Amino acid sequence: MASTALDLKEDILRLKKERNAVILAHNYQVGPIQDIADYVGDSLGLAYQARETDAEVIAFCGVHFMAETAKILNPNKIVVLPDKDAGCSLEESCPADKLEAFLIESKEKNYYVIAYINCSGGVKALCDVICTSGNAVRIVEQAPADRPILFVPDANLGAWVMEQTGRKMDLWKGSCYVHVEFTRDSIQRIKDEHPDAVVVAHPECTTAVRLLADEVCSTEKMVHFCKNSPAKNIIVVTESGMLHRLQKEAPDKNLIPGPTDHCACADCRYMKMNTLEKLHACLDSLEPRVEMPEDIRQRAEAPILRMLEQSK
Ligand code: 13P
Ligand code: SF4
Repeated sequence: MASTALDLKEDILRLKKERNAVILAHNYQVGPIQDIADYVGDSLGLAYQARETDAEVIAFCGVHFMAETAKILNPNKIVVLPDKDAGCSLEESCPADKLEAFLIESKEKNYYVIAYINCSGGVKALCDVICTSGNAVRIVEQAPADRPILFVPDANLGAWVMEQTGRKMDLWKGSCYVHVEFTRDSIQRIKDEHPDAVVVAHPECTTAVRLLADEVCSTEKMVHFCKNSPAKNIIVVTESGMLHRLQKEAPDKNLIPGPTDHCACADCRYMKMNTLEKLHACLDSLEPRVEMPEDIRQRAEAPILRMLEQSK
């Protein structure tokens, strides 16, 4: 007989206890996963949680690079991801071999390489420091003044950080396939329908969309913005999973998902690959595990630790 949702949740909690596991979930995960997780947050908060946990198993409900970051910080723990195919278009846009070839070609520039955390362990291993959308401005402000910066892989986030810091950077031409779906027209249209609403947008959006926003910030900072804004109506321009977290944290607000030209909201197909059923299965079998070669792990760990230190 098929188990009910209640049984499944109870059994996830049983397995979590038996395995001495912690469940970490990104703000874009489906509601039922957010509701059962020990911690829900943005990439930066999740990296801190992964570093601090004393659980033996980390069940990471997010995309692969996030689970890989947890593994880099915890080589002796088991890290499982409900769906091993949960990737990221930004990670795909910057393969490690292409970045390595580019850095060899441009050796004389002596780039200080800053990588947005949405990249593979192989790319992290080639970088000086990592950043997330939550700390990118702080990290760029602390970059050495006498070296040119190469920022990979998100050109939209990079452009926003340049505006915020006044620091010029060379940008890798990657983008998030979800956030570039929001257009100036689609956001202007929803603004016209709600003339008193304020707009909060993720920095992975294009410049044209960011220019329509009252606030541009990481997913975690969106929670603070929505809770503290005097506005009742708030248009949220990011992946749809964010609305679940915001509705719980700011129940008195009317939260309106930012639409694209084709859809009333935007889903990340990778984030949505994880389900409660797959979370249950991965806690049961402790598979699929995130693994990586030790030499790459060690080289990737240094720029992550530098980021955690610089964003305190
Ligand atoms: P945050 O770190 O702001 O949660 O962003 C992660 C992400 O993948 C956005 O698309
Ligand atoms: Fe990657 Fe975009 Fe999905 Fe975030 S929303 S995980 S950047 S594809």
